[in-house]
Formats: sequence, structure tokens, C-alpha cells
Amino acid sequence: MGDLLANAAERGVRYLRGLGDRRVSPTAAAVSRLRDLGGPLPNEPTDPEAVLALLDDLGSPATVASAGGRYFGFVVGGALPVTVAANWLAGAWDQNAGLTVSSPIASALEEIALGWLVDVLALPQGTAGAFVTGATMANFTALAAARHAVLARAGWDVEAQGLFGAPPIIVVVGDHVHVSLLKALTLLGLGRDRVVRVPVDGEGRMRADALPAFTAPAILCLQAGNVNSGAFDPAREICPIARRAGAWIHVDGAFGLWAAAAPSRAHLTEDVDLADSWALDAHKWLNVPYDSGIAFVRDGAALTASMAASAAYLVQQTGREPHLHTPEMSRRARAVEVWAALRHLGRSGLADLVERTCCYAGRFAEGLRRAGYRVLNDVVLNQVLVSFGNSEATRRVIEAVQADGTCWAGGTLWRNEAAMRLSVSSWATTERDIDRSLAAILRAAAQAGR
Ligand SMILES: Cc1ncc(COP(=O)(O)O)c(C=O)c1O
Repeated sequence: MGDLLANAAERGVRYLRGLGDRRVSPTAAAVSRLRDLGGPLPNEPTDPEAVLALLDDLGSPATVASAGGRYFGFVVGGALPVTVAANWLAGAWDQNAGLTVSSPIASALEEIALGWLVDVLALPQGTAGAFVTGATMANFTALAAARHAVLARAGWDVEAQGLFGAPPIIVVVGDHVHVSLLKALTLLGLGRDRVVRVPVDGEGRMRADALPAFTAPAILCLQAGNVNSGAFDPAREICPIARRAGAWIHVDGAFGLWAAAAPSRAHLTEDVDLADSWALDAHKWLNVPYDSGIAFVRDGAALTASMAASAAYLVQQTGREPHLHTPEMSRRARAVEVWAALRHLGRSGLADLVERTCCYAGRFAEGLRRAGYRVLNDVVLNQVLVSFGNSEATRRVIEAVQADGTCWAGGTLWRNEAAMRLSVSSWATTERDIDRSLAAILRAAAQAGR
């Protein structure tokens, strides 16, 4: 066993060391060789070393090098080396983090990491939390607590009775609501199409002056960090209005909430602490391995009421029971890497990670503007949107950049116009990576313009 695991570690290290020199997207040939991983299920066992070799030889070249410094697609963080190491150790532990009795270490790390996160993100002291797969499930979990609370106030027990015959809940979202939040609403029976959509301004921020009148039971969903522009809904103006209406306020802060940990960007998150719940990703800006997100709920009782489950065999200890906070019962110990990242970075390291990546986004924007291209958003965070003239030209540049392989950037529609999205979210990105990637993008733009 020792040799096998050492071999895996050696292969992993070799893979990570090779990322700087390889193309970011895999070649078509590498992807087509993946079919050799299939075929009929073997009748007899295969030697573990051979299994590992096959996985590395065929699998590694077919990965996307998002763990390296030149991947700017979606909002994908890298994984800090300490979190990869912690992940490997936790893999060896193979803990079931659902119950304290099945993993005291996972349970302890959840409590410690939650306390640190509440502190560094300036959320209300005593806020409860749940370790889930990502912001989609964090939105789901927090909104389940919201659904419980607003219906309980209306005299309805949604966990016992379901939504049949329940008082209708008004759900208010910004027009640029992230699709994952709508997905969470559908899973909760709150419906994607019955939401009240509030118009947004040119950066995608909910307009406080366009907020309709509404009454409880209601849930108002703010966004801290628009997936395209990085913009923040104005919590300062909207929270008091929502509060007066008796609404539960939820903040989808998948990546933007991390701005609270960086002194130069913390103003963007002003007054988000007035909310009742927050969704956060750790696999994005905290740079822990996939998958990892956290739901925070100010009123822990609302969270545990929405996630309650009991059976005689499930040992209930006196402290915080992890599975009473999450949709899942059995799950991996995600807090291990979150704890390791925070313990390693400390307050100053986390601030530096956020600030550095924001500065690199600014460097991208500056270089693109200097070359004569239109940056479409106000680059307040780590997101840059750029047009290369018109939608057709922009799509051609995106295609050329992806084919070139020096870096990877995706596309989006921004105010009915195609745009290239650049999201700088990884500890591994250096100034050199930005300059090298910028040169590749400008080269592709020049070629596409010919
Ligand atoms: C604002 C926002 N919310 C939610 C999500 C969904 O996150 P995940 O894919 O981790 O579930 C994202 C992903 O980019 C996001 O930007």
C-alpha cells in the first residue's frame, strides 16, 4: 500500500510541476484516447499500480489545467498546495463527516473553520453554517432555512406539511440572479418562473429604486459578486426596505463574499451582514480542491429545523451535529481543506490572495484597453468583460484563444453583446501568467481581425 500511495503522490507532484509548460486545454487527441479507459468491465482484478498508471497516462493529459496559473474560465480557483496535501491526508482518513461520533476530527474542524469564516467575513457572531458541495447547494440549504422561517412566521410547518396549501411566498431576485439560485428555488418547490425580478443597472446590480412593494411571507435574494461583472447589489439601500417588508434576506456571495476579507475591497460587501443567510464557495476564491461550499444562516434554529432528521441508530451528541445542518447525511470532510487553507493563509494571506487576483484582473483590463479593446464592466473585483469590436469578432477571438492553449477564457452575453470573460481566481496566477496570457489574447484578436 505504501508504494502505491507514494507512487500516486509522485505522479500528482509531476502533474502539478508540468502545468506551467503545457497547454491549458487538453488536445483533441488526448481527449479521444479516454475511450481506452472503457471497454467491457474486466472479469478479473487488475493490479492497483497498473490501474493508477492507466489513470495517469490517459487521464492526466485529458485534464484541463485549471490548477495552473493561466485558467480564467467561469470562476474557478486553483488549489493551494497545503489544501491538496490536506485533501490527500483526509482521503487516507476516509471519514464520514455526517456525525460527530463517526468523525470527531471532521466535526471539530467544521466548528473551528466556521468560527474563523464568520470572523474574517464579518458575518454576525453566532451565525450557523453547513459544509456542502458548492454555492448551488449553499443557496439551496440557506433557502431551505428561509422557507422554514418565513412559513413558520405565517403559522405553517413546511417540513411537516410540505407546500400544498401553504401561504404563498414572494421571492424577489435581481434580473441578473445566478442560475444556481433559480435552480435552488426549483428544488425547494418555490418555482423559477414565479419570482419577482427587479431591474438592474448597467453593471448588473439590483436597482433599489425599482424594488416593488411586497409583503411577508417573502424572501429577498441579493447577490454579492455578479458572475460576469463582479458587481454587488446595494445591500445598504435594499436591506432596510426588505426588513421593513418582513422578508428573509439571502445573499448569494459565491465568490464575492470573499471581498470582505480584503481591506481594499471590503467596502463592496458593506451591510451584507444585515442579511439572514449567505451562500459561499470555498472551491472558488479560497482555493481548496473541488468540491466545497458553505451555507451560513444567522438563525441556527431555522437551519436545523429545515434539515432535521432523526433515527434511533443516529447517535445525537450534545454539541453541534454536522448532519443536522446539511441536506446530506453521509459526506466527505470538506472542512479539512477549508481549515488548512485558513490556518495556512491567516488573515493577511487571505487578504493578499483576494487583493492580488483583483489587481491582476485590473492588469488584464488595462492591457486590453491600451490595445484598443472595449472593457465592458467596471472592474471592481476579479472579473473582466471585454469586447473585440462586435459579437462575431469577439466569438472568433474566444475560439482562437481556446485553440491556442496558452490560456483559457470563456464567453458570455453582456447587455445583448458577446463578451470574453476573464476571471482571475487562483493563487497560482503570477504577473508573468497575466502578461503571457494577455499577449496570447492580443495575438488571437489581431489574427481574428484580419
Ligand atoms: C454568484 C454565483 N452563485 C452561485 C454559483 C454556483 O456555484 P457552484 O458552481 O459552486 O455551485 C456561482 C458560480 O459561478 C456564482 O458565480
